[in-house]
Amino acid sequence: MEENNFDIDWLAERYPFDVEARNKTIEQAAVDYLKTDEPVTIVDVGAGTGSNCLYFLDKLQQDQSWIFIEKDKALAPALINRLTEYASFHKYDWSLKDGVYEMLTPFKKVSFKIISDNFSKIDQLVDLSEIDLVVANAVFDLLSKVQISQFLDQLTQNKVACLFTLHYTGMRFVPEDPFDQAYIDLYDSHMMRQQSFGQALGKMAAAHLVQTFETANYNLQTGDSAWNILQDDIKMHYYLLNFMESALSELSYTEELKAYFPKWLKRKKELIITRQQGLEVMHLDLFACHSTS
Ligand SMILES: C[S@@+](CC[C@H](N)C(=O)[O-])C[C@H]1O[C@@H](n2cnc3c(N)ncnc32)[C@H](O)[C@@H]1O
Repeated sequence: MEENNFDIDWLAERYPFDVEARNKTIEQAAVDYLKTDEPVTIVDVGAGTGSNCLYFLDKLQQDQSWIFIEKDKALAPALINRLTEYASFHKYDWSLKDGVYEMLTPFKKVSFKIISDNFSKIDQLVDLSEIDLVVANAVFDLLSKVQISQFLDQLTQNKVACLFTLHYTGMRFVPEDPFDQAYIDLYDSHMMRQQSFGQALGKMAAAHLVQTFETANYNLQTGDSAWNILQDDIKMHYYLLNFMESALSELSYTEELKAYFPKWLKRKKELIITRQQGLEVMHLDLFACHSTS
């Protein structure tokens, strides 16, 4: 499978789990913040194939302008396909003019623009004074502290409200195996390995976001958003186990744990195919708006 197809399939697979997991109190705080009858402009950073927008389109009653910032250009056709399918399913008018897509429903007008770029320089890509909300779903775990700080500085200086969801904080297999924690710890450490841009924050990203918003005099609300992966969710289980397997293959760790890993993996796969494996993947959602806005 090509890497891009892999990404598109993975983002589609995780979508219903994200929908279920999203913290509805945090989400409502963001919806309430956007005044109901005024048009809103929302930027989705690390937009992938447009999951945030698809999720919020119906939840927001007003006219909306969505700006997607996604560095992986190959995801743009899949994003457009998903939105086109949504429009066609609902029999909404759909048009493209000067690089901006527009969807007309009987109740509202929604426009979409894709910026295929890195969001690290967001203030050069969009006029932040015109933005009502920045959203990001499952984006910050793989960034370094410096990258997150530099990005957030641009938002906080402009007092932009942020809804950032699904930050990984840990996982727990059900039933538990005595070796689970050791391999989960290794998986987490792989996320936080040194890379060309520095050390990604992995499961510490959420804490750094929280701290930064607090320091910037923002009102902050946080809440859990765990995936509850059930015994029948075979494909999701395999995705996550495969992620763990390839992460651990790139790590050096003790000979004892290395020798035992194939047995652990086999036992997990047996539990999955006999539909006995559950898995909770913990995340944190946050909504932050400047205390004076
Ligand atoms: C796990 S995916 C989540 C995609 C989408 N938000 C969703 O919920 O399905 C993370 C996305 O962030 C994008 N991304 C990560 N860092 C980025 C950056 N600095 N600039 C733009 N996109 C970035 C990746 O290319 C990837 O598509």
